Amino acid sequence: MVDSRGRGTSIRIRECAKTFPDGTRALEPMSLEIHGGETVVFLGPSGCGKTTTLRIIAGLESPDSGGQVWFDDEDVTALPIEHRNVGMVFQSYALFPNMNVEENIAYGLKIRKFSRGEVSSRVEEMLDMMQIHELRHRTINQLSGGQRQRVALARAIAVQPKVLLLDEPLTALDALLRERLRVDIDRLLRDLGITAVYVTHDQAEAMSLGDRIVVMSHGRVAQVGTPRQIYFEPRDPFVADFIGTMNRLSGVVENGVLTARGGSVELDEHPDGPIEILFRPESATIGNTGNSMLQGRVSGVFFLGDRTRLIIEEAGEEPVIVETAGSREFETGQRVGVDIDRDAILVL
Ligand SMILES: Nc1ncnc2c1ncn2[C@@H]1O[C@H](COP(=O)(O)OP(=O)(O)O)[C@@H](O)[C@H]1O
Ligand SMILES: [Mg+2]
Repeated sequence: MVDSRGRGTSIRIRECAKTFPDGTRALEPMSLEIHGGETVVFLGPSGCGKTTTLRIIAGLESPDSGGQVWFDDEDVTALPIEHRNVGMVFQSYALFPNMNVEENIAYGLKIRKFSRGEVSSRVEEMLDMMQIHELRHRTINQLSGGQRQRVALARAIAVQPKVLLLDEPLTALDALLRERLRVDIDRLLRDLGITAVYVTHDQAEAMSLGDRIVVMSHGRVAQVGTPRQIYFEPRDPFVADFIGTMNRLSGVVENGVLTARGGSVELDEHPDGPIEILFRPESATIGNTGNSMLQGRVSGVFFLGDRTRLIIEEAGEEPVIVETAGSREFETGQRVGVDIDRDAILVL
């Protein structure tokens, strides 16, 4: 087993901004500390600067002057990628098509002048770890997308990099495969104890893989936190909307009571005046018409098996989405009451 335990290198990004030669400002000055052995996920919409940040960590891109990248106690800002000992996995596998699986995995080891014996034992370990033994003699174009990505991971890990950088490695795969490989990557990162930076625009991927998530927007860090913090305590409306589904209910507060289109909600200690509250679909329940906080009309019913997702109009200005037990049946047009768990209400 390739053991990277105790090899968890910390990464410090200090005031790294990036302006491309054409003037594009891809990254505002960013500072971030990634602990040794930690998996940090950069999450955000396309174009927000995730790849640029990853490439700065890798040494494929240099930050604007003043920016620094540190690996443990070493300032690596001026070090090119080949001297940073990072492993990289991309969305497009970037494997050598003219080499077979074994040769692809062995490539980095040979470059680094490992002995023949060592190369072959490492390759064996990698084939084991990624469960691709039977593919060892195939060429890359004889592999499926999922298999290619396993080979790419094996090749990146074989050299025992200090840091593993992954840029949307699952994006090109179909949903089922994506889920399966995500589980494997999760296990792999935990077993190796390697420091990993994982870029994705997929929030489910970010939530399941990240020890911490860095939510990015327009070249800026919107929030850094554990998946639970990001989900339950979003710092601003962008983060709240980007992660999961968030309901918005607007109205006017008077004497601690919010009056909205479909009813009223008691709030603690909110000044009088207009307000918008936010809550998750699972923080609301369907109650009786008449004595619930809000009254509305079901306009959409999505049976998901274990739960049913209801779209409810007229409760607020915007439709409200509520999730309820799958066993209960609803029809469109039906009038329902909606109650909100008051402890789960967010005001940003
Ligand atoms: N080489 C480049 N030259 C000019 N602009 C670039 C270059 N690379 C990326 N960009 C721009 O920088 C911004 C951030 O890009 P990127 O980091 O690739 O975003 P993401 O990975 O989050 O989708 C985008 O507006 C993109 O068009
Ligand atoms: Mg990208």
